[in-house]
Order: sequence, then C-alpha cells, then structure tokens
Amino acid sequence: MDFTKVMYTRQTTRSFQKFALSQGQVELMLQAGQNAPISRGRFEDYHITVIKNPEILAAITSAAQEVTGNADKDPLYGAPAFFVVSAKEPAKPGSIASAAAIVENMHLQATAELLGSCFVMGLMMNGTLDVEEIREKMQIPEGFTPVTGMLAGYPHGYLHDRLRTLEKIGSNIVE
Ligand SMILES: Cc1cc2nc3c(=O)[nH]c(=O)nc-3n(C[C@H](O)[C@H](O)[C@H](O)COP(=O)(O)O)c2cc1C
Repeated sequence: MDFTKVMYTRQTTRSFQKFALSQGQVELMLQAGQNAPISRGRFEDYHITVIKNPEILAAITSAAQEVTGNADKDPLYGAPAFFVVSAKEPAKPGSIASAAAIVENMHLQATAELLGSCFVMGLMMNGTLDVEEIREKMQIPEGFTPVTGMLAGYPHGYLHDRLRTLEKIGSNIVE
C-alpha cells in the first residue's frame, strides 16, 4: 500500500477475528519495529515479545478483569497477537517515547498489511502485566519492563480511509 494511504488508513481496531497471524506477518511487524527511532540509539535497551498463545492471551484478559474489577471487558478485544514492548529503564521519558515509536511503526505496518491493530498502554499502566503469573508466562527477559504494546489481527470488516485534517490537533506555524 502506498505510504500516504497507509497513513490515512491507520486506525484503532477493537474487535478482531480469531484467525492466527502467520510467522511472516509477525516478522513484518517486528522488522518495522526495529526501524523505529530510538533514544540515544540504544536498541539493546528494548525488547519485543509477541504473545500468540491463546491460553496466555486468555490469562492476560482474566488478570486484567481481576485487576480492574471489570469482568465484562476484554482489553485484548479478542486479538490473536499481542506485541509487548519492554524497556530497561521504564521511568525515563526517552524510553517511553522510543517504545511508542516502535509501536507506531508496527501499527503502520499492520495497516499496510490490511490488518487491524490497537496501540495498548492500559495493561501496562494498571499493573496487569506485573501480576507474577502473567510475568512468568510472557517470558520477558530479566531486567526489562513492559511499557507499551500493540494488538494485531484480522478486523471484522474493512479499515476505512480517513480524511486529511488540520482540526484534530491544534497547531501553529511561526514564520
Ligand atoms: C499511548 C497510547 C496508549 C493507548 N492505550 C490504549 C489502550 O490501552 N487501550 C485501547 O483500547 N486503546 C489505546 N490507545 C488507542 C487510542 O485510544 C486511540 O489511538 C485514539 O482513541 C485515537 O483513535 P485512532 O487510533 O483510531 O485514531 C492508546 C493510544 C496511545 C497513543
């Protein structure tokens, strides 16, 4: 897909079909993440874990429901793949910005492949991924903490084009 089309088709998907993603699809997104701009070029300070195992995804949903007390909501929206971006120094603004850049690259790549995707940070903020049982299942390497993530999978229906706008985010140009 042409880059401009990708940019204006990117959108949040919150309802996924169950079909698993192929190894090739996952690797395309991982490669896109690798090409993100990273603070001080410290690529070794980040790690991406891709969770495709349905039992682990279900355990994350259950843990989130327990943590939030909201048993009706699935924060994974039924997605078949959860990309978790972890950082060595999670408290640093540069780490969060870099991890977000990784996710945005993967989000755009997912869009280019006509996949649905969703930027996720709620699960990192509300402590779901700190639950010991979940931490163990995700196999995140020692010394890394999850800071951002992305869900991906086949959407129900199609991704729609969006109009270009200058209205959503305020801006000013100083000449
Ligand atoms: C830093 C960040 C964290 C987000 N966390 C979540 C999340 O935990 N769950 C969720 O459903 N959406 C999450 N989103 C998606 C936003 O809600 C979404 O991008 C926004 O509403 C705009 O919609 P759009 O992506 O379709 O343009 C997050 C987005 C960003 C940038």
